Amino acid sequence: MTIEEFKKISEKLINWIGNYYENIRSFPVKSNVKPKDIINSLPDSIPQKGVQFEKIFYDFETKILKGITHWQHPRFFAYFPANTSFPSILGELLTSALGVQGMIWLTSPAATELEEKVVYWLRDAMGLTKEFTGVLQDTASTATLVSILTAREKASNYCINEEGFYNSQKFTVYCSKEAHSSIDKAVKIAGIGLKNLRKIPVDNSFSMIPEVLEQTIQEDIERGFRPLCIVGALGTTGSTAIDPLETLGNIAKKYDIWLHIDGAMAGSALLLPEFQYLSKGIDLADTFVFNPHKWLFTNFDCSVYFVKDKTALLKTFQITPSYLQTDFDKEVNNYRDWGIQLGRRFRALKLWFVLSYFGLEGLREKLRQHLQFTNELKKMISKDTNFEILAPVNFTTICFRYVGKDRTFDEEELNRINKKILDSINESGFAFLSHTLLNGKFAIRFSIGQTNTELKDITETWNFIKNTANKVIYNGA
Ligand SMILES: Cc1ncc(COP(=O)(O)O)c(C=O)c1O
Repeated sequence: MTIEEFKKISEKLINWIGNYYENIRSFPVKSNVKPKDIINSLPDSIPQKGVQFEKIFYDFETKILKGITHWQHPRFFAYFPANTSFPSILGELLTSALGVQGMIWLTSPAATELEEKVVYWLRDAMGLTKEFTGVLQDTASTATLVSILTAREKASNYCINEEGFYNSQKFTVYCSKEAHSSIDKAVKIAGIGLKNLRKIPVDNSFSMIPEVLEQTIQEDIERGFRPLCIVGALGTTGSTAIDPLETLGNIAKKYDIWLHIDGAMAGSALLLPEFQYLSKGIDLADTFVFNPHKWLFTNFDCSVYFVKDKTALLKTFQITPSYLQTDFDKEVNNYRDWGIQLGRRFRALKLWFVLSYFGLEGLREKLRQHLQFTNELKKMISKDTNFEILAPVNFTTICFRYVGKDRTFDEEELNRINKKILDSINESGFAFLSHTLLNGKFAIRFSIGQTNTELKDITETWNFIKNTANKVIYNGA
């Protein structure tokens, strides 16, 4: 493709993106293709001769697009959002145009220094202690793994990296029963062993019960284990429950245990002064992660990982072959040593675009709007005696279910009915919601956070849910 061709095509492509967003409500939110539909629609091998871009794009529109679930649809309410915004899209475009691989400062000083800058901007705007430094990771899963590996190395005096697990202590890790599966994964990869991950029970609000945590830690110590790490949740995946972070911090301190806080979705709320009381607990942690790629209008992937003990982090991950040594190593951050991968994307650019374009006021306005929509929806659900809310609404996710105003269904029937309601909504393409199990109850999760969602999307979807429930109950549809 020549530069002239590129300029022409990209203009069209940007227009296509504009039109896509203009018409996005006309797309079914969830793709309803069947397994293998897409694979079977594509050739069996790489084309022998290059294909004209117009033809490739035609195939994208006719073959690929129907297999896309539209995460940026304003009625995408499933899982947690992976929202984005035009400044983010433009930043990502430039990132790919520059094609920077920012493994060390020298390979693009601006990539490293902008990353350092946006992390500090966020730390300060979120009211977190200046003891934190930080880095961008791809995902919260990676950040949690990095945290547990760092904890493991610090606790073993950096021996496991050197000698493996021979003679190592028997480590245990603690999180609530509602914590995200990325913790299980990290514990597996870090060699701790799933058997040594203690899932602490939760209270009625789905928050970890700290008394049980402490008792479990004491029992483990008596049995010869070395409690390594507590992972506290700031917004669990199921219901966005908040663990008692300050109490976890005090327990971690008392028993000399590493504390990591997973605020993948809800962390962004700390940009709002009314949520900054939560920083009291986070400030007691060793590490904290949250995802701008969930609820800060920055396209996937972009995860902010805050860490206090930079030395421990570097001692865990640093390997410096001679070909990566530079004259600046003592003065600069080389982010390849701050995590798992060597090569690094220039993620800071899109995040910087977003933070600068919206400004703190603009970001706060958008976050508050989502919280207000959630509040409106909560009122609508609470008023309807056919439904019940199953968990406290802490941020922008509501877990609820149909129960029928006469309450005549048993638990098994309710689980079946609610699954049917959810499947029926999702198959319709009108909106996309997901589910979770809370105390064995099938809950429909309505998670608000797509950048362009408006109040009408919430009310129309709520009406759609009620109508679908009626159809399921009265027509067995
Ligand atoms: C609480 C929590 N932690 C971690 C994750 C994993 O996030 P990521 O996809 O960035 O690894 C999620 C994903 O939804 C989550 O809800």
